[in-house]
Amino acid sequence: MLDGEQGPAVAKSMELLVALGEVFEAERLVSVDSAHISGVSYKNLGEAGLEFLEEQARLGAKVKIRSTLNPAGMDLDIWGEMGVSESFALSQLRAIKAFESMGIEPTCTCTPYLVGHIPSLGTQISWSESSAVAYSNSVLGARTNRESGPTTIASAVTGLTTLYGYRLEENRRPGKIVEVKAELRNRLDYSALGYLTGTLLGTTVPFFKGIKNPDIESLKALGASCATSGGIALYHIEGVTPEAGDVSDSLMRLERITVDDFDLENVISRLTSGVEDPVFCLGCPHCSLKEIKEAVNIIKDKTVTRDLWIFTSRGVYDEADKRGYIDIIKEAGGRVFRDTCMVVAPLSEIGWNEVATNSLKCAHYMSSMGFKTQVLPAEFMLEISCK
Ligand code: F3S
Repeated sequence: MLDGEQGPAVAKSMELLVALGEVFEAERLVSVDSAHISGVSYKNLGEAGLEFLEEQARLGAKVKIRSTLNPAGMDLDIWGEMGVSESFALSQLRAIKAFESMGIEPTCTCTPYLVGHIPSLGTQISWSESSAVAYSNSVLGARTNRESGPTTIASAVTGLTTLYGYRLEENRRPGKIVEVKAELRNRLDYSALGYLTGTLLGTTVPFFKGIKNPDIESLKALGASCATSGGIALYHIEGVTPEAGDVSDSLMRLERITVDDFDLENVISRLTSGVEDPVFCLGCPHCSLKEIKEAVNIIKDKTVTRDLWIFTSRGVYDEADKRGYIDIIKEAGGRVFRDTCMVVAPLSEIGWNEVATNSLKCAHYMSSMGFKTQVLPAEFMLEISCK
C-alpha cells in the first residue's frame, strides 16, 4: 500500500498511518471494522480542508469498511431556514460530495450508534468525535483512540490503524475511582458529573461507583462532557458498562474522589453567564428518539414563545417524523434541524450571541466562541419556553 500498488490515495493514507505509528511507537498495524469521521463542517474545514477532501476524492480514495460522518455546518436540505449563507452552503455541499464519492455514508451525526452504526464488543474501530469515541469505548466496549478526521479517513481507505493507546488491554484499566454521592436527577446532572470528572482527571480512565440504571441518553451526556473538559476517551461504571467487571481486580490500589450535589451545582454555575434572550438549544450530542418524544410530551398543545432549536440525526428525525413528533414541535413553534449542531454551524454569523443548553459540552464550546450561556435541565427549558 505504501509503495502505491493500490493507487496514490491509499499510499497517502498509509504514509499518515506509518508516521502516526512511529510517533506512538506502535508495535504493528491492526485491522479496523468501522470508521466515524469528524471534521465535516465547512466552518472547521475552511478552504484548505475542502481542498484536501477533494484531492483525496480525485485520487480515487474509496473506503474499505463501514464509514459514517459527523455533523456538517448546516441542515443539508433546509440550510436556508437556518439563515446559512449561500456561499457557505455551496462549500459545505462540495465537502459532502467529496466524502460521498469516497463511499462514506453522509449520516452527519455525532451519534452514529443511534442510527445503526454499532460496533461490537472488543472490535477495533477508528472513530473521531470525542463524544462518540467515549460512547463506543465505554458503553459498546469497542476499541478506538481519539482519532482525527484525517486519520479516520486513512483508516477507512486502508482498513487499518496503528496498534497503541486504548486499543491495548493494559491501557483500558481505570486510574481513579469516582464515588458518586450526588443525586443524578436528570441528564444535565450526568453532563455535570462528566465535566467535573474530566476537569479533575484529565485523561485518566475513571471507574464510577454509585451510578444506578442510567439510560443511553444519560451515558451519552456523561461521555460527551468527560471528553470535553479533560481528554477522557473511556470510562467504566460499576455494574453498567461491559468491561467494568473485568477491571475490578485493579480497584483496590486506586485513589478515590467523591462527588456530591454541591460539586455538580458548582460546575453548572461556572458555565452559566448572564443571558437576556438566549436561543434554547437541545441536542448536544444529537437527540435520540426518546429525547424528542420527551420534548413532545411537554410541548404538545402549547405554544413555544422563545426560539427553540432541536438538533438530531437524519435517521432519528425520520423515525420521529413517522410518529408525528416533528409536526407537533413545528406546529407549536419549535424548530428541528438535522445534519448539524449549534457548535459546528456558523451561528454567530447569523446573529446568535446567547444560548441556553442542557449540555456542558455545548456550554463549554459556545462560551469559548464568545457566546453567553445558560445551563438548564431540558425539561425546565421546555417548560419555560412554552405557554
Ligand atoms: Fe455533537 Fe455538536 Fe455536541 S457534534 S456532541 S452536538 S458539539
